[in-house]
Amino acid sequence: MPDILSVILRALSFILLFQAAGVAIYIALFRRRLDRSQGAVRRIGQAAALAGVVLVAGHYALEAARLAGDMSGVWDPTLQEMVWHSPSRAALLCRLLGLLLIAVGLQVGSNRSTIVAVGGAVLATGAFTLMGHTSVNVHRAALATLLLLHLLIVAFWFGALIPLYLASLRETPARASDLVERFTAVATWLVPVILLAGVAMAALLLPNLAALRQPYGRLLIAKVIGFALLMGLAAANRWRLGPALAQRTTGSERRFRRSLAAEYVLIAAILTITAIMTSFFSPKA
Ligand code: HEM
Repeated sequence: MPDILSVILRALSFILLFQAAGVAIYIALFRRRLDRSQGAVRRIGQAAALAGVVLVAGHYALEAARLAGDMSGVWDPTLQEMVWHSPSRAALLCRLLGLLLIAVGLQVGSNRSTIVAVGGAVLATGAFTLMGHTSVNVHRAALATLLLLHLLIVAFWFGALIPLYLASLRETPARASDLVERFTAVATWLVPVILLAGVAMAALLLPNLAALRQPYGRLLIAKVIGFALLMGLAAANRWRLGPALAQRTTGSERRFRRSLAAEYVLIAAILTITAIMTSFFSPKA
């Protein structure tokens, strides 16, 4: 029971954390081009950050229950103290501080507050390097760098989907297609780095190719398949839906929004697969 609840909270906290961090990055990159959607985007980022605080804290509280094997562990001071003296504490504090900085930084639109929000995004994603398989490997420094790169680009991509959806609803058609064009221009270069960094991390973490047949390896392959599907959607946006949006072809906005929603669901599914993979399985098993 604690295991299942813990992995559900972990997957949901991933979604909220990357949503909040991604909005901070989106606002930093595109704030001057946002007119009618900026307020709503900020509020979504803040809501995701604050809900993320609750789920991150809830997931941390369940660590002791996982050690005990039942929910009574949550109230066991000895087990809670053991968790407090583990790397979970540093990761928890970084995540909470990062999310709070995002919530505060998204309150107003000044340069300084945008820097605070982006600092929060780096801190919240950087927390992933403090625990987990990458932090106990001999290649820790290389893995931490690759993981941070992997995660910041995931945040940039995932966090932009709802803001782009809102832009297509609220901004003028010219402004919305300009935003999509600019986002796509940056994403085209950055998104493949998610795969490159992921494969490099897998090469450092897995003992051999046969490990790909173990549960951890199979879930990694599921991530790669999910990523390939996402690349298909992204290519359609770049070559078909983006230009149709710019030319204001009938129905193009609706098709574009449907494609954004599909990307959102797929990335959320990959985040859930990652939460299962890193909670229950080891690359060395
Ligand atoms: C949009 C696609 C992807 C998303 C949203 C995503 C998300 C994540 C997240 C959130 C983590 C941190 C997990 C943690 O430390 O708890 C992670 C780690 C990782 N990702 Fe990805 N990822 C994606 C694509 C890929 C791809 C294509 C690969 C290729 C093999 C990959 C390989 C890895 C590896 C090896 C780790 C380290 C896991 C560990 O610590 O055991 N990821 N990813």
